[in-house]
Amino acid sequence: MTVRSLLVGVGSYLPERIVTNDELSERLDTSDDWIRGRTGIRQRHIVGEGETAVSMGARAAQRALDFAGIDPLEVDAVILATSTPDQVFPATAVRVMNDLGVKNGFGFDIAAACSGFIYALSTADAFIRAGNAKCVVVIGSEVYSRILDWSDRGTAVLFGDGAGAVVLRATDKPDENGVLTTHLHADGSTGDILYVDGAVGVPNCSAHLKMNGREVFRHAVGKLASSVDEALESVGMTYADVSWLVPHQANIRIIDGVARKLQMPKERVVVTVDRHANTSAASIPLALDEAVRDGRIKQGDLVLMEALGGGLTWGSALVRM
Ligand code: UT7
Repeated sequence: MTVRSLLVGVGSYLPERIVTNDELSERLDTSDDWIRGRTGIRQRHIVGEGETAVSMGARAAQRALDFAGIDPLEVDAVILATSTPDQVFPATAVRVMNDLGVKNGFGFDIAAACSGFIYALSTADAFIRAGNAKCVVVIGSEVYSRILDWSDRGTAVLFGDGAGAVVLRATDKPDENGVLTTHLHADGSTGDILYVDGAVGVPNCSAHLKMNGREVFRHAVGKLASSVDEALESVGMTYADVSWLVPHQANIRIIDGVARKLQMPKERVVVTVDRHANTSAASIPLALDEAVRDGRIKQGDLVLMEALGGGLTWGSALVRM
């Protein structure tokens, strides 16, 4: 009997406060024209007092559980991707379990930067396929506003805060829905082009995000396109089979570049980077939630997800909704 993971719930959370490009231009040597032209970003959401990776992750996960109609007591695991945990430990996931009332499961965090959601989805799917869990909540929750150097125009304008979540449930029914395949990659030799400088207790570090944007860009389109090819080839499908591309939302030029390589028309690409900016591990589940709830993504659609982030890490996932 083959067990697979069905994606049965989606949810997300964005902080109320919106910061526009014009607002940033008042404090930085930048402009709405530059930010929009180079990235597609118009605005970002930034956490308010008391909002954290735990609080936003719990809100997104609760919405995903409500969507699925699943009680927290049925959840076997919570896997949360973040680069901005509230604490070194307990894991953000375990704090979220407590907020949700998940009492019968296990939980842990995944640190794979902007690829975190794909890594978490792949891990959750592996637990389900192995028979070690039947219901897993997968979350990406990020507070990048906390790790930005707000005086560095090269990075401060690019990121935002938010959280997204999905619920996976085991099925042994012989239909073709669910997580079809996931593919993960990492290359530590590129660790210095995108990183956070330091950790708790490490002397002489800024704890700020540092990026060589041009270098990251150079790696992004090629690595993402080959990861997407790998996913489709592994299940004997082609670009023509894909209903929706739900990419990591870092830069509209990267999204367009990958879409062009896939010959995906713009109408079939879910884009939120204009309103959310780059929310790292939260960006894919935030985009997925938006497109499911507004009726674009429907049951039976084939959804292709891809992401690249610090590490470098990158990967892809194909899900039949
Ligand atoms: O999600 C994790 C993965 N991250 C990414 O995928 C990000 C990938 N990289 C990018 O998206 C782009 O490289 C950026 C948006 C970060 C930068 O765009 P770019 O077209 O690569 O610009 P650039 O870094 O080559 O900079 C061009 C110019 C520079 O000035 P000079 O040296 O040509 O005089 C920068 O100093 O733009 C300047 N610049 C700015 N100007 C106004 C850099 N940031 C800003 C700014 N406002 N905010």
